[in-house]
Amino acid sequence: MPAALIPASARSLPLAVRAQGARIFTADGRDYLDGSSGPLAANLGHGHPAMIEALNRQSHDVVFAHRAQFRNAPAERLAVEVAARLGDGFGLSSFVCGGSEAVELAMKLAHMTWAAQGRPEKHRYVSGQVSYHGNTLGAMNLSGQPRYSSAFRPLVHSEQTITVPQTYRLDVPDGRTPAEQAVARLRAEFATLDVEHTAAVVFEGVGGSSSGVTVPPPGFFEELRALCDEHDVLWICDEVMSGFGRTGKWFAFQHSSAAPDIVCYAKGIAGGYAPLGGVTVSDRVWDLISDAHPAVTAGHTFTNFPLNCAIGLAALDVIEEERLLDRVIDRGERLGQQLSAIAEQAGIVGDVRGTGYMWGLELTLPGTTEPFDPALDVTTRAVAIAAEHRLIVYPARLCAGDGRGDALIVAPPLNATDDELDDLLSRLEGSLHSIRVSLDI
Ligand SMILES: Cc1ncc(COP(=O)(O)O)c(C=O)c1O
Repeated sequence: MPAALIPASARSLPLAVRAQGARIFTADGRDYLDGSSGPLAANLGHGHPAMIEALNRQSHDVVFAHRAQFRNAPAERLAVEVAARLGDGFGLSSFVCGGSEAVELAMKLAHMTWAAQGRPEKHRYVSGQVSYHGNTLGAMNLSGQPRYSSAFRPLVHSEQTITVPQTYRLDVPDGRTPAEQAVARLRAEFATLDVEHTAAVVFEGVGGSSSGVTVPPPGFFEELRALCDEHDVLWICDEVMSGFGRTGKWFAFQHSSAAPDIVCYAKGIAGGYAPLGGVTVSDRVWDLISDAHPAVTAGHTFTNFPLNCAIGLAALDVIEEERLLDRVIDRGERLGQQLSAIAEQAGIVGDVRGTGYMWGLELTLPGTTEPFDPALDVTTRAVAIAAEHRLIVYPARLCAGDGRGDALIVAPPLNATDDELDDLLSRLEGSLHSIRVSLDI
């Protein structure tokens, strides 16, 4: 076939022709086990009848009705349903076409919040080192991971950062737990920020493709909430990867007792069946914005797109009807234990970390916590070897935050069957063995 698409990978990729459940079938007759729900988006597996039915139904009703010309029921209903799942104090939403767009809108809304109070000088942002918030220019500014932005340096600048709580890399010199150390470091780092000019801290609910899965330890989000309040800074929680059941709650921040001011999400909200993302603001934020702006004109052509929103509603129904939050909590712990057992045997996995159905396996030199030489690009090699074992895992390159670090993310569809999970684990075991052999260690 002639090359017509700009290549998305240096590797030659198989042609997907059909997919069912956690399996993707390719033109060369192979079946791939989707061990990471694609990029943690195909959360309801492939070919789900209820999702296909929603897609068909809405296609017959109304696919497109522009937000500035018509209201539409799927978007309005989805906004109500998402706010209800976010909990008390959350109000209005706007739906976009993905995570990067959601992050950009959240940045604009944070800026509008302060400008409405006569504080337009608050236009800077803070994000995690390392983190990922998207690939559009604004979101790229926030992604505290130089590898995303280095090629575009003249177009993007670096924002301020705080260290993500990778407790694996914290030593415990003074008897404090890693969680206590992470919380103390957060407070110390906050003191160095230019809070006078800062609109918001943007932080992943669970760190994903940049840090190779980082679960904020107990007390971390509570401290972040307190610091934001002390310094007049908003907290934007980026739940693009971690939202909609991935961690066993609707949103990962709900594992804490703290709540953000603005939440962005995408991927799992439509289970991978539509390019849907969104932003929901707290009532407090909306009250402040609406004092100055009765409407927000920061939309796109496909903002509140009816077809996408109908698919989002169907995904929420599937998550509820199939009790997937319970499934992720119940089965997730065992998944973590099974991954740890496989990792131990493999001998090149220094850390297995995660929660629910979101796990990172950090690859390290045998018997140490020492990352591989980045020149080896172990992550790329490992993903390719897993694909040879017909397993899809998601890469997290340079996850250690010091220009090194290789991790693989395992994040099966929330409705993966026991057989599919067993298959995933056995293909992973084979893959890790082959990765070690390929490294000649
Ligand atoms: C935490 C986070 N935020 C934002 C994004 C960007 O989302 P999208 O690729 O849909 O633009 C991603 C994508 O992986 C993500 O993981």
